[in-house]
Amino acid sequence: MLNYFPGFGNHVSTEAIADALPIGRNSPQKVPFGLYAEQLSGSAFTAPRAENRRSWLYRLRPSANHAPFARYEGNSSLHSGPFPEPVSPNRLRWDPTPLPSRPVDFVDGLTTWAGNGDVGAGTGIGIHLYAATASMAGRCFFSADGELLIVPWDGRLRIESELGVLDVEPQTIAVIPRGVKFRVVLPDGAARGYVCENYGAAFRLPDLGPIGSNGLANPRDFETPAAWFEDADQQTELVQKFQGGLWTTTLDHSPLDVVAWHGNLAPYRYDLRRFNTINTVSYDHLDPSIFTVLTSPSDTPGTANVDFVIFPPRWAVAEDTFRPPWFHRNVMSEYMGLIHGVYDAKEGGFVPGGASLHNCMNGHGPDKASYEKAVAADLKPVKIEQTMAFMFESRYVIRPSSAAMDSPLCQPDYDDAWGGFQKAVIQR
Ligand SMILES: [Fe+2]
Repeated sequence: MLNYFPGFGNHVSTEAIADALPIGRNSPQKVPFGLYAEQLSGSAFTAPRAENRRSWLYRLRPSANHAPFARYEGNSSLHSGPFPEPVSPNRLRWDPTPLPSRPVDFVDGLTTWAGNGDVGAGTGIGIHLYAATASMAGRCFFSADGELLIVPWDGRLRIESELGVLDVEPQTIAVIPRGVKFRVVLPDGAARGYVCENYGAAFRLPDLGPIGSNGLANPRDFETPAAWFEDADQQTELVQKFQGGLWTTTLDHSPLDVVAWHGNLAPYRYDLRRFNTINTVSYDHLDPSIFTVLTSPSDTPGTANVDFVIFPPRWAVAEDTFRPPWFHRNVMSEYMGLIHGVYDAKEGGFVPGGASLHNCMNGHGPDKASYEKAVAADLKPVKIEQTMAFMFESRYVIRPSSAAMDSPLCQPDYDDAWGGFQKAVIQR
């Protein structure tokens, strides 16, 4: 593994076979070993240098070497925005997705749960859940619709991609750029997790402002794989997601045949337990933006297409302060999931693999039990442990899919979390 800062000009060079990587030029007349040079662009050619992402791949065959794609009928639960279903302002919460009782791989195990924006316009996100019981065998997948932020909560994934192999487990994440082909192998035989498919600007680290040059997720902890390839002349199905639909073709070879590559567009992983968590050392607590791992900006400064935010273990030391998340109503919309342990604003009902949705301007915050515990607490320094929640927060209202709304996993009594609060009594 290499240490790697995704984007921002920190280019990587890697080769699986010595001397496969051309030196001094990207596309020489003859590439070593007769490999084919192919550019993979993740931004417009003319994007500013800090935004520009591209890699050069040197492979056994060009990606263009394939027959036409036909509609793939194996998974009707995966789609893209626009999300036309009517949306209510109601707060929603779901139980975890059960594992299928039959062999289902990562591609067929994806279900679109919510989303916003318009994939064709390059705005918004899709939120999918995966529940898989089989490794992808004899096929690979890519999304032409957006980069995939994969958040496992149950079981490990071995992601074998064109640009190398990433092993991820719960409390780590992987990001697969738009267009990069990959296969998901399940070392534990089963896996479940969340996916944010980002149609907008590529994820990057947030600016730190007055925090300074250190803190939050540190660039050196983002890891990208070394070159790795398969020389396999065997039939391989290639499924792609394009404008919300799934398409399939069959190759006579493995598409994971990139022998060497260089550039700044690549899959990467990050261990959430390495996050440098920052918050108050006096009173109150800061806005949850202080927990932002990655951000996809929109064309309005400071107003994200989507932020990926985590709530990791941390010390709570604030004096004369209500320490859990406060009651709030936000313009931004929030989809939350729980990777591990317990979330400090909910005493029950929100378990690992579950999810909640709090949309624009609709009030939420701690449930009654969490509130009562917090106002009665002896405010000594306390370590909040055994927890890892996350949030996909977006400027666009997050619209649940019909699969999510009709699911028996949707809790009918979620509003009760905020029932039973005593009226404040003004004593004159
Ligand atoms: Fe919130």
